[in-house]
Amino acid sequence: MKIGSVEIPSVTRLAPMAGITNAPFRLIARECGSGLTTTEEMDAAALSMHTPHADAIAAYYPEERPLAMQLLGKDPDILARAAARLQQLGADIVDLNMGCPMRQITGKGKGAALMRDVPAAARILRALRRALTVPLTIKIRSGWDDGHLNAVEVARMAESEGVDAITVHPRTRAQRHAGRAPWAIIGEVVDAVRIPVTGNGDVRSMADARRMMAETGCQSVMIGRGALGRPWVFSESFEALPPEAQRDDKARVIARHCRLIREHFRETYALVQMQKHLAWYTEGLGHASDCRRLIFQTRAADEVWEVFERYWDAVRPDPVGQPAVPEDAPLAAG
Ligand SMILES: Cc1cc2nc3c(=O)[nH]c(=O)nc-3n(C[C@H](O)[C@H](O)[C@H](O)COP(=O)(O)O)c2cc1C
Repeated sequence: MKIGSVEIPSVTRLAPMAGITNAPFRLIARECGSGLTTTEEMDAAALSMHTPHADAIAAYYPEERPLAMQLLGKDPDILARAAARLQQLGADIVDLNMGCPMRQITGKGKGAALMRDVPAAARILRALRRALTVPLTIKIRSGWDDGHLNAVEVARMAESEGVDAITVHPRTRAQRHAGRAPWAIIGEVVDAVRIPVTGNGDVRSMADARRMMAETGCQSVMIGRGALGRPWVFSESFEALPPEAQRDDKARVIARHCRLIREHFRETYALVQMQKHLAWYTEGLGHASDCRRLIFQTRAADEVWEVFERYWDAVRPDPVGQPAVPEDAPLAAG
């Protein structure tokens, strides 16, 4: 798939997730096979003021590219200035967040609130289009609530304003992240526009991604929560590996992810990130809850890594992939 002039090398890609999809995790997803990664949402006003937090979110590894950077905002001029800055920082694509459901965001007229006023959204997209030479994309929901499903109207407007691609997460703002994502709405957007459409929502495997593409006609698939603790979900070949090779691959990815976290962040934030991601990496394995309890008791990056390594060695799976230690046996705290 191509977004404007940018070649996207594979059909699945990591979804933006605030507090999670920072540079280390994005690079890991990219190395596992994500065709495009996106920064978490960045407030345009904060970016224009060069706040340290906004600058930290915009940091990336050159090896991540192609990389989309995502903006949050409602004022066309401020958004246009922020977009120009992201382009200058190296964004291959600038994405506008039109789907964030959080009350503190929508209450200020940003995120999913942009879908409620289509003419105002058109003015924003016009300003962004003028400010950018790189491709411009948007990420939308199906609508504000069940009474206001306007993804198709917004998509058509976006295409006519020069937007290069659209991601559809087909839950409404009112649904937030709960309930099943109604994929049929992705298909309605695909039928309504000629630009590439990426589908999103409830994809946890390559098989799910292929099913979404077959059912909706979308050109690519974005995976969010299904990639937490499972960045190998983006790999075409991982599922075909024998269990021991899968385990070795996972161990290598997890160790590299933690090394990147420790290189990229100062110690206190590195600890928070390692705790969060290592807890996700235990999911589906024996004793996960015991291990997670120990993980969140640690106070240093070295310590959390030791806890995880001990755990990982204890849950070596047998050849058919079952953890060797039964789920109900106590895990040594060490
Ligand atoms: C913790 C969390 C943070 C998120 N942050 C963002 C964000 O910054 N920008 C955005 O467009 N979507 C954000 N999303 C939405 C995801 O990108 C995605 O649309 C949603 O999780 C549905 O996909 P999934 O079912 O594959 O998780 C976030 C979702 C979660 C769970």
